[in-house]
Amino acid sequence: MAQNWTPSSWRQKPIQQVPEFPDKAALAAIEAQLATFPPLVFAGEARRLKKQLASVAEGNAFLLQGGDCAESFVEHGADNIRDFFRSFLQMAVVLTYGAQLPVVKVGRIAGQFAKPRSSNVEMQGGVELPSYRGDIINGIEFSPESRIPDPERQMMAYRQSAATLNLLRAFAMGGYANLENVHKWMLGFVKDSPQGERYRKLADRISETMDFMKAIGITAENQPSLRETDFFTSHEALLLGYEEAFTRVDSTSGDWYATSGHMLWIGDRTRQLDHAHVEYFRGIKNPIGLKCGPSLQADNLIELIDALNPTNEAGRLTLICRFGYDKVADSLPKLIRAVEREGKKVVWSCDPMHGNTITLNSYKTRPFDRILSEVESFFQIHRAEGTHPGGIHIEMTGKDVTECTGGARAVTASDLQDRYHTHCDPRLNADQALELAFLLAERMKSGRDEKRMVVNG
Ligand code: TRP
Ligand code: MN
Repeated sequence: MAQNWTPSSWRQKPIQQVPEFPDKAALAAIEAQLATFPPLVFAGEARRLKKQLASVAEGNAFLLQGGDCAESFVEHGADNIRDFFRSFLQMAVVLTYGAQLPVVKVGRIAGQFAKPRSSNVEMQGGVELPSYRGDIINGIEFSPESRIPDPERQMMAYRQSAATLNLLRAFAMGGYANLENVHKWMLGFVKDSPQGERYRKLADRISETMDFMKAIGITAENQPSLRETDFFTSHEALLLGYEEAFTRVDSTSGDWYATSGHMLWIGDRTRQLDHAHVEYFRGIKNPIGLKCGPSLQADNLIELIDALNPTNEAGRLTLICRFGYDKVADSLPKLIRAVEREGKKVVWSCDPMHGNTITLNSYKTRPFDRILSEVESFFQIHRAEGTHPGGIHIEMTGKDVTECTGGARAVTASDLQDRYHTHCDPRLNADQALELAFLLAERMKSGRDEKRMVVNG
């Protein structure tokens, strides 16, 4: 176990991005109650994910991580979850088929409620109020009452996470993710798009392969891997009081695990070496992520890796890089070289969303071509450095939203107002997400073909 660590030792450290709860006694009472509630995930599942991520670190699999920027209480419906899952499965199948690598599937879901903010206050029409910090903390409505941090919201976040996870488990294990359904995951509004057409062709080939296998006796009934998939959950563990309440000892190993989700990550704004978030994370055994932005220096990254993964365990640490399309070429190679020099085992994942946010017609948006450009650079740089471009981390939804501009069915600046529903950052719609998946599959395949040519001389 990590030295001098307890689930509450983070409380002795400086902390960023915490809300001021006016009623400290009410907060403590809620945290005490949460600590008695059943865990959402169990340690064996987190270990299973860590093993899959180890295979990504070794270059033998690809990580697909995605979901809402922020989940919300009002959008907690079965249709939303199902449509997200369909879109996610489509991406996964495109990547698995195209890249011929196993895809590790991790949702930004069932717990993604707390948001770091660049400003403590928000100005609207000359009125200044505290910023919205996610539904687990306060309300998005622009009124003084709604913006007061309310600990009761943590109860709701827990219940919603449990219900969401329950449905996702049913989808993943109960038949919905069966490869025989590969055509049925198509969403209505994607059907007639160029991506829909491309997907249909790929799904036809998979169906054909399934028919062939059936003829030789391999069926979804006798082969669980054809009808089930491992789907894991993740979120930014920003609200440490909530996380502490769900930090439990695993009876099998005696180790501490966060049980609010399978994988947790540290945000780019809260990764200070001697602060609370790094302190909390070093003591839990889950697979974890670390967001890496342009301000992260190579020596600082190595210190963080030493603190968070002292035994250099493959699969423990995923570096989620979010530099921006115009900064990635400058920032990423330095970090890769330092990690390689020190022999650290990590998963390299590309978050092409957070460094590419701009404001258009007073909407926060992300141009799709910049997202693709950052992804392209990420792949090129890894190829040049001889390292594995291990994964992608995106903000996406299964809904037909107009939040990011561009894509094959171009969303324009003036379209943004049509279906702009996000509670925080702009997300890819299902069409854009599928387009990205096809691009990723192509890049991964050509990277592998090149490697094979080198090996075969
Ligand atoms: N079990 C395999 C996997 O998860 C194959 C599989 C089943 C699959 N259903 C899927 C792959 C849906 C992608 C999407 O990879
Ligand atoms: Mn975001």
